[in-house]
Amino acid sequence: MLDIAFAKAALPESGALVLPLAEEDMGGALIAEWDRLLGGHVTRGVAAAEFKGRKGQSATLLAPGGGLSRLVLVGLGKREALDAAAAEAAGGNAAAALGRESVASIDARAIGGWAGAPADIALGAVLRAWRFDRYRTKEKPEDKPRLGGIKVLCEDPSAAKAEWAPRRAVAEGVFLARELVSEPANILNPPEFADRLRKLEKLGVEVEVFGQKDLEKLGFGAMLCVSQGSAQPPRMVVMRWNGTDQKKKDSKPIAFIGKGVTFDTGGISIKPAGGMEDMKWDMAGAGTVSGLMAALAGRKAKVDVVGIVGLVENMPSGTATRPGDVVTSYSGQTIEVINTDAEGRLVLADVLSYCKKRFDPAFMVNLATLTGAIIVSLGHEHAGLFSNDDGLARRIEEAGKAVGELAWRMPLGEAYDRAIKSDIADMRNVGAGRAGGSITAAQFLQRFVEGCPWAHLDIAGTAWSSKDQPTVPKGATAWGVRLLDRLVAEHHEGRQATPEPEPAEEEVAAVTGAGSASPAVLSEGTPATEPLLPAPDTGAGPAGEPAPVPLPTRRPATRRPRR
Ligand code: BES
Ligand code: MN
Ligand code: ZN
Repeated sequence: MLDIAFAKAALPESGALVLPLAEEDMGGALIAEWDRLLGGHVTRGVAAAEFKGRKGQSATLLAPGGGLSRLVLVGLGKREALDAAAAEAAGGNAAAALGRESVASIDARAIGGWAGAPADIALGAVLRAWRFDRYRTKEKPEDKPRLGGIKVLCEDPSAAKAEWAPRRAVAEGVFLARELVSEPANILNPPEFADRLRKLEKLGVEVEVFGQKDLEKLGFGAMLCVSQGSAQPPRMVVMRWNGTDQKKKDSKPIAFIGKGVTFDTGGISIKPAGGMEDMKWDMAGAGTVSGLMAALAGRKAKVDVVGIVGLVENMPSGTATRPGDVVTSYSGQTIEVINTDAEGRLVLADVLSYCKKRFDPAFMVNLATLTGAIIVSLGHEHAGLFSNDDGLARRIEEAGKAVGELAWRMPLGEAYDRAIKSDIADMRNVGAGRAGGSITAAQFLQRFVEGCPWAHLDIAGTAWSSKDQPTVPKGATAWGVRLLDRLVAEHHEGRQATPEPEPAEEEVAAVTGAGSASPAVLSEGTPATEPLLPAPDTGAGPAGEPAPVPLPTRRPATRRPRR
């Protein structure tokens, strides 16, 4: 991760300077201030580049004076529309524009109005600057990005530093998820994945690893029928972060579950060769849950969370499951495996019922690259959201809008459920045709949640991006880490597992009203009872206390989706 430091504005001795500017800043005091230090170069450069401060616009001026190597102007658009998402995008665009600079300063003073603005810019920059280059051995040093650190210039560096601490933890979680998803399947097989999760113990996460024998003993017939064709043994990893004081014994944890198919050939129902390499991402749900656990533990979230990943490889071989085989799941329900390529739901079935039985969570959210059909429905812009709980679904949609990870609710219903009736077992693992393929998959999962409030996020279209976005470089996106971190921060910290009543319409309107703060401890329409922001100067609370979770003031994202 880039080194991030916060300091009062001063002319940097060397390196690059980034100047984010709103349209209203043209000809204003900020430009005048830098002009004084740089001999009028900023005004001349703005004119020469026809830089107007428009959103997404940027211009680079080389050797602008002082010891600076370059000055990068980044447009913020209209001042009234500035929010955390815009600050992040500016940071991300700045990081992308810095080329092969090794050090840079960003003047954050044009973006303000909320305490977290400088930290939001930093977050955008680190998220964009991340790169997976473990397997590039021949890249010339001059071709490698060199950016090692960014100094964010702002009015109150110690307050900005305190705001940075939890964001940094979330960025670490995003990076863990991106790294796991990027790794090729010959390296990241189920045992290796489980080993890497052991490292979360350093953050205070309890990690339990289940192997083949353990899973056999438990009776995980659905999950094991997927791995049985592979030379790689399966693993299930249960991660627990206990962030509340454990005195409240009656409180239920919340649970996140991830599909971790480290490679999906389709099994005997084998996939065509073209594009099969993409199926190394088929563990993105598990990657996201792992990254989320790292984020929550890293920022010492005040919540009890269970994260479970089911890790298998889906291969064809003489020991593989055949189409038509009947298996008995952990729940006792039998499944006729019509198509061995519909394997993710088999893995999740056992993990969901195990999670429900062992932890009786307040809710379960699972993430899975489950169906190609969700890409047909929603493209790469939204993940599919399926839920048996309207409140949970709405909270997920809203958290997604706030962080730019969008989810679109899809239907469930009895008529779809009928499509997975089997002539010989309790259910079959696919519908009869391709109709409603994502929905019948969700119906299948729902049969294993036993009435627990539950949401399923089908991330087949969002786990990977074929193009650079302001805060997400091309490749593994870690879609869902930030959304679920936000969901936890907004609804489940300090108010552990209290069922939330559906807010009345006018309360929803009040929260989605203009420009209001949305601090961590706020629930919809409920005033905060704790201080919203940490005391300045400290990255965390007093020794031993969990770090506070300052959330940026955001404009109601419901009105302003990011992409
Ligand atoms: N992992 C795939 C889904 C997928 C497809 C993810 C494309 C990302 C991109 C899943 O295991 C799968 O193969 N699903 C089948 C289901 C079908 C056999 C009912 C599909 O979508 O074709
Ligand atoms: Mn498959
Ligand atoms: Zn799959």
